[in-house]
Amino acid sequence: MNQTAAQSVSVDLQAFLEEKRELVDRWLDRFLPPEGEPPMVLHQAMRYSVFAGGKRIRPILAILSFEASGGKGDVIFAPACVMELVHTFSLVHDDLPCMDDDDLRRGKPTLHKLFGEGVAVLAGDALSALAFELLAPFGPEVLTTFTKALGPRGMLGGQVGDLKSEGKKVTLSQVEEIHKMKTAALIAASLKIGALVAGAPKEEVEGFFRFGEKLGLAFQIVDDVLEATGNDLALGKVTGGDRRKEKATYPSVIGVEKSKTIARRLVEEAKSEIVFPDGNYPYLSLAADYIVARV
Ligand code: IPE
Ligand code: IPE
Ligand code: MG
Ligand code: MG
Repeated sequence: MNQTAAQSVSVDLQAFLEEKRELVDRWLDRFLPPEGEPPMVLHQAMRYSVFAGGKRIRPILAILSFEASGGKGDVIFAPACVMELVHTFSLVHDDLPCMDDDDLRRGKPTLHKLFGEGVAVLAGDALSALAFELLAPFGPEVLTTFTKALGPRGMLGGQVGDLKSEGKKVTLSQVEEIHKMKTAALIAASLKIGALVAGAPKEEVEGFFRFGEKLGLAFQIVDDVLEATGNDLALGKVTGGDRRKEKATYPSVIGVEKSKTIARRLVEEAKSEIVFPDGNYPYLSLAADYIVARV
């Protein structure tokens, strides 16, 4: 990346991220089955949730670690989109009445509100199946990184921890463990997969993974802070539910201000994990700052 590009991103990171977001959306559109293909209701439901909005943080992080590792070309878009598909699947199920029971997501009615619970469950499953299909050609290391992040020791295990701790008194280390699993795992995997697809050396790949673990934890802490203090319109979801459901969150255990301090510290720690080969790829550090500074 040349110096001019590096300088311009510090001036306008938002435009840089927007460009990546548009690319991701174009590729998602190619990968998802067309709405007119039967079973139409399933494909409409999948597309409704994916294109309802969303910041595309996971695919963008995969693209950034790919580029930071010297990766070139379009090969990264399938794995990047996989991370978004599976994230959307997690949100569709997370919002169901049997889980967080939320009516608004990405500024729109949740999938089960419009399509019913049965279709929402199946559309979530279908998004996950499509993710595996797209990732299969990338080989065992990429696939294993993904399944570990998704499975019982990753997002799904974390979601169980989240559900089972509702209404209970939890310690900070228990909340940390839940957050690492339910949120940081997929974020860390996105970064690691980007570097793997670029063919980065092992130490670099692991550096991106650790960066993602810390950034992912910070991301969930900020999400909880926003949930406790934020405004529904900006977030596109109904806030205040964590307190009502007595969820295990950083603000509920240590308060909003300490949570913010920890999130900021984690991002600094995260940034110290990545050293770029050419020393001149500022986008990941800038994106990390941006992610925790969001309102
Ligand atoms: C929301 O994730 C749920 C968490 C894991 C915190 P995002 O904040 O990335 O949601 P979208 O994709 O932008 O809607
Ligand atoms: C969202 O988590 C789903 C996953 C992390 C897998 P939360 O329940 O904490 O986030 P919101 O508030 O619904 O977006
Ligand atoms: Mg939840
Ligand atoms: Mg939720």
